[in-house]
Amino acid sequence: MNRSLRGKRYTAHTGILQLMDDLGKALSGTKKKYMLGGGNPAVIPEAAALWRRRMREILDNGDQFDRMVGVYDAPQGRPRFLKALAERLKAEFGWPITERNIAVTNGSQAAFFMLFTLFAGPHADGTHRKMLFPLLPEYIGYRDQPQDTRDLTAIRPKIELIDEHTHKYHIDFDSLHVTNDTAAICVSRPTNPSGNVLTDEEIRRLDGLARNHDVPLIIDNAYGVPFPDIIFRPVTPIWNENIIYSMSLSKIGLPSLRTGILIASEETAAALSAMNAIFSLANGTVGQTLVEDLLTSGELLHLSRNVIRPYYQEKSAGAVAAVHRHFGDAFPYSVHQSEGSIFLWIWFKELPGTTRELYNRLKARDVIVVPGEYFFFGNDEPWEHRDRCIRVNYAPDADDVDTGIRIIAEEVELMWKERT
Ligand SMILES: Cc1ncc(COP(=O)(O)O)c(C=O)c1O
Repeated sequence: MNRSLRGKRYTAHTGILQLMDDLGKALSGTKKKYMLGGGNPAVIPEAAALWRRRMREILDNGDQFDRMVGVYDAPQGRPRFLKALAERLKAEFGWPITERNIAVTNGSQAAFFMLFTLFAGPHADGTHRKMLFPLLPEYIGYRDQPQDTRDLTAIRPKIELIDEHTHKYHIDFDSLHVTNDTAAICVSRPTNPSGNVLTDEEIRRLDGLARNHDVPLIIDNAYGVPFPDIIFRPVTPIWNENIIYSMSLSKIGLPSLRTGILIASEETAAALSAMNAIFSLANGTVGQTLVEDLLTSGELLHLSRNVIRPYYQEKSAGAVAAVHRHFGDAFPYSVHQSEGSIFLWIWFKELPGTTRELYNRLKARDVIVVPGEYFFFGNDEPWEHRDRCIRVNYAPDADDVDTGIRIIAEEVELMWKERT
């Protein structure tokens, strides 16, 4: 196949491809697998019942189903959904927004491709701008999105050692420099992969830096407030015309409906709508139709707060306890403080080998995790930390998570025994 340079770039063996491949294979085979790899959320019975109820209501409501599947929406999104969301966010957070500040996308992964295309790369003023990620490790899905692999720059964190087996990352503001070549600043909060939640103070400082340098601040809220609310510490969400707040219906339990949402200035929302028209004409409407009345009635937020968050908080605590139980004193390790998202981030200090090797050993034992190296991009400084961490999805069945963690402990212990 005679691929263009850009074609080659997007068909290279990327981390996200390996991840989705392993996920697909693990879910399709007949052999029992412990799938702690991808980012699939859990199917939570109360949430599933709500989606079924909404689907029945739509089916029973005259021609609503036929219109939902049979009519293209405007590229910005479904007007009823946009209005319901703007009003809900205004009521919850007091944000001064209307439906003109929202653009819907076919999933937030697609939203980031659009945002990176909008801001990164060559500009008319002669600058060549890069996305700036203030805190590594950061979401693997950003890594291969820019049209030029060099259009990313990222900063190593400061590591707070909370106790022998717990740490937390903080932004190293002394090393964070916004320049004329910065396209936009981007963070996920809660952070995939580490489960970190940037503090309100860190977000305020990033907001100030971004505004002072007239670059957008993108806050990826795939796991945050007000939905799905998989966040275990109180936060004060902020928005202003310089902030692009990204949301998704995926982690509340609707990943296959591919619904991403961006809250931005009217100018940016209009630009994103124009890109939508070119890239995909319009968005899928099923997710929007399913949740719009739940936004208005408050049920979506009620579900998030009272079902989704407690569900994951309990699972997170169970997974952390399983790590401590199975790892014991066999080898040095530390878990990132679990503050949100659906992942545990485990750091094997002084591991005699890399976590890529560990990943392959675990795969041979039917346990799928993600080696940490993929989450360190946009920064070439040598740092052994990038080869010492793994990401574990704790959303699957608790027994599977427990068994997976036991097998991780066995393999890490074997690595130590073989090499020391
Ligand atoms: C931080 C973060 N952002 C964005 C996405 C993409 O989500 P989606 O495209 O399903 O909305 C994910 C998915 O795992 C994520 O973890």
